[in-house]
Amino acid sequence: MPKSYEGQEIIVSFEPKKCIHSRKCAQNAPDIFNVSADGDWIQPDNGDVQQSINVANTCPSGAITYKLKNHAANPDIKINTLHVWENGPLALRGNLDIANQQASQNATLCRCGLSRKKPFCDGAHLKGGFQATGDANSIESEPLEQTGGQVHIKPLENGPLYVTGNLEICAGSGRLIKRVTKTALCRCGKSNNKPFCDGAHKATGFSAEGA
Ligand code: FES
Repeated sequence: MPKSYEGQEIIVSFEPKKCIHSRKCAQNAPDIFNVSADGDWIQPDNGDVQQSINVANTCPSGAITYKLKNHAANPDIKINTLHVWENGPLALRGNLDIANQQASQNATLCRCGLSRKKPFCDGAHLKGGFQATGDANSIESEPLEQTGGQVHIKPLENGPLYVTGNLEICAGSGRLIKRVTKTALCRCGKSNNKPFCDGAHKATGFSAEGA
């Protein structure tokens, strides 16, 4: 369960199980996100509201989120994107529905097959020595008719992440790999066509719950 920290104008929430310790919060707004504080480590009123919003928007795992107290909802994201991290997870930013749950707007999903918090990354790729390029070749694709809207990510039992919705898949550098409205992404770590599934999960006996 996320824990919430209330300021005058904004509520900042933190969900520990999603955190991948990128440390962007402490680096970008150390007065608000003070990891060595006694007591509450998030103090929204120790900086301006926009600082908290920026940190939430750039928190790759979606562990930090925000809600403005006098707004009904946060603005939708105009372009859904997925960045493939070198030797690491799939970093999504968009209007996300992951495993039939309204997710935050950011999430890092396991693609090494080792996380104990699947479909989310828990950092196991580091200990496991996962190696996979974040720089897959670009594939010709037509511009999407729409770039926003909801993206649904359904982890299939013992198989890939099945994606439906408008999504731009990018290398870690930001270069476009492919625009999709439907695809299957490898989460077993064994595909020879990463970040896409090539069916290798069957031969390797990948085991993971579906949703
Ligand atoms: S999930 Fe990895 S090849 Fe299908």
